[in-house]
Amino acid sequence: MFTKKELRLAYALAICLLVVGAICYAAFPEKAPEQPLRLMFKVAAGKVLFDHKTHFSELGYGISCGDCHHTLSEDEYADAQSCSECHDPDEGDEEQPKRAVAFHKQCGGCHEQFGSGPTEEECSKCHVR
Ligand code: HEC
Ligand code: HEC
Ligand code: HEC
Ligand code: HEC
Repeated sequence: MFTKKELRLAYALAICLLVVGAICYAAFPEKAPEQPLRLMFKVAAGKVLFDHKTHFSELGYGISCGDCHHTLSEDEYADAQSCSECHDPDEGDEEQPKRAVAFHKQCGGCHEQFGSGPTEEECSKCHVR
């Protein structure tokens, strides 16, 4: 068994460690994941400006990361990659379309669903020369 003195020492030590832990936690907060704010795609049809932040932020359209980064589960959002990792610029098929088709399908498809934002046929609402 422990003596009273030993117990008091153990409690004091535990409290010290708790305080140190709390300070460390406050001093080094988990780094917020970095996401690009705006993205510019340069293609022959004219460049496309995509306001990434407005699409996902709560003050914007509030769309979930996973609606676009469609292979990721919630705890993987911070690791989002370029669509090209899986959608080749030159090759694709009906199921896993090539990069440009994937973009047209995803961007245009959602706008059509929402009834706002440029649909696939409204080329010049996205492409600016
Ligand atoms: C409306 C669709 C959409 C939403 C919502 C969205 N993203 Fe993205 N995100 C994109 C597109 C498109 C790209 C560009 C991909 C490319 O260049 O191939 C991108 C790029 C990124 C990149 C850079 C990837 C790279 O290395 O090129 C990161 C990181 C990222 N998004 C994270 C997020 C996170 C985290 C969220 C949620 C908070 C989010 N995105 C919400 C569509 C979206
Ligand atoms: C880690 C690999 C991976 C990444 C990254 C990825 N995709 Fe895909 N994508 C796939 C696979 C696999 C399929 C086919 C099976 C399926 O639908 O999940 C697919 C299918 C699609 C389809 C066709 C589905 C349909 O309903 O017609 C679209 C559109 C699409 N992806 C858009 C995108 C866009 C845009 C991005 C980037 C924001 C992206 N994908 C990033 C793997 C990926
Ligand atoms: C999952 C749904 C979704 C996807 C995917 C999506 N958008 Fe949007 N987008 C919206 C919504 C909702 C609006 C808001 C329309 C409004 O409020 O009038 C919008 C509006 C826009 C607008 C018009 C307003 C502005 O920001 O200038 C553009 C341009 C646009 N989106 C480009 C894109 C591009 C490019 C992509 C693909 C890289 C994309 N969007 C993918 C939902 C989406
Ligand atoms: C919702 C926005 C949007 C609309 C509407 C849209 N595009 Fe695009 N387009 C994009 C994005 C994003 C890319 C992909 C850029 C990249 O690959 O980096 C792209 C890529 C392209 C490319 C390059 C293809 C390649 O293989 O490199 C062409 C050509 C193109 N679009 C033509 C058109 C035409 C024609 C229309 C109308 C029928 C149209 N786009 C409508 C956003 C749009």
